[in-house]
Amino acid sequence: MLTKEENDLLTQTDAGTPGGILLRSFWQPAALSEELPFDSAPIRIRIFGEDLVLFRDDAGSPGLLGLHCPHRAADLSYGRCEDGGLRCLYHGWLFDAAGNCTEQPGEPAESDFKTKVKQTAYPCKEQAGLIFTYMGQGEPPLLPAYPALQAGDGQWFVTKFFQECNYLQGNEGNLDPEHLSFLHRAFINDPRANADLVKGGEASFDMLLGKDKAPVIEIEETNYGLRIFTTRNAEEGETFLRLTNYVFPNMNAFPGGVGGTPADQGHGMHWHVPIDDTHHWKYQLTTVWAGSLDKTKLNAGNVGDLKPDYHLHRNTENRFLQNRGEMKDTTFAGMGFNIQVHDVWATAGEGPIQDRTTEHLGYTDKVITAARRQLLDAVRTVQEGGEPKYVARDAGSNSFGHMVSFNEVGPKSTDWHSLWQERIPK
Ligand code: FES
Ligand SMILES: [Fe+2]
Repeated sequence: MLTKEENDLLTQTDAGTPGGILLRSFWQPAALSEELPFDSAPIRIRIFGEDLVLFRDDAGSPGLLGLHCPHRAADLSYGRCEDGGLRCLYHGWLFDAAGNCTEQPGEPAESDFKTKVKQTAYPCKEQAGLIFTYMGQGEPPLLPAYPALQAGDGQWFVTKFFQECNYLQGNEGNLDPEHLSFLHRAFINDPRANADLVKGGEASFDMLLGKDKAPVIEIEETNYGLRIFTTRNAEEGETFLRLTNYVFPNMNAFPGGVGGTPADQGHGMHWHVPIDDTHHWKYQLTTVWAGSLDKTKLNAGNVGDLKPDYHLHRNTENRFLQNRGEMKDTTFAGMGFNIQVHDVWATAGEGPIQDRTTEHLGYTDKVITAARRQLLDAVRTVQEGGEPKYVARDAGSNSFGHMVSFNEVGPKSTDWHSLWQERIPK
């Protein structure tokens, strides 16, 4: 449970709010690269309550500017990408990606008026199919070297999902190991291509989650947030470990969902980025460490569910097309097999901004409690004018090779707390 003041601190992300300053201290995904192909129209985006335009200059580099032209506020997302920047349709002013006004064709030739005009601009970087931006103050930190962002071509798959609620409840959904024993359960093997098998394909990961509904949950602090050990009883004498991570401040990393041995499972990340305080994007990045990733197979779970605008067909308007017949013998929730649908249902149902003054947290919510503590500590640092912990500004602090995720079944005698060190990809 949080006080109202604490809940506000963690859920309000507009410019100038402590929570907003905190999240802006980190590089954040602004869009998928596929939304902005080379030579395409600029796109209008909204992030942290700010309306912006994302474009590629004629060299292909992304730029992110305030949506409204600083001349007389025309919408720059209709502009022309030319001459090294974005040109406003109304009177032809040209802006580069740094927000400099480089041309004002109608002003007298001797005028230096353009040097007095600066458009809002945020730096961008592109990696693993994502266009990142830094909206914080001062010099940007390093783009974090999370393992999932280091995958080579052919080793990542990325998409996103619209969520009609505050970013924090989306992210807290990932920090809740217990819901996997219920919400996402299926009573039959997932007929789609990405059924998640463990232990050489003998048992489905989902079956093991349903077998023991009272896991032991342990956490340890790391230089990126929290490492989360969730152990459940498996077959006689065996334990099932799911190792996941809270990645500060609005991400998590978990097994990639491609099945197989721990080394084959790859890595997944969910990154919850506010559009404003009551809507956010959940970016989903899946990578493998070696070989190439079958994107068609991995995306099979979304086909038919995700619309071209990255909104799910199933939503609150149609009550997620819940099917009571399906609940008898096929899925626990009656909303199909796509876990993204289930998660959207769970988190949107908590309200636009969850009222955390009335909740009752139990043992299984211990990761959420610990993550909130880290967030509140960082908010206080920000309120005192400092930079939050975990912002990486040198190679030493930008080292995350020890962030691993996997599902593994083994003898109860296994030292589950040190096993992850052996699972770091070579
Ligand atoms: S409003 Fe953009 S150039 Fe005039
Ligand atoms: Fe979930």
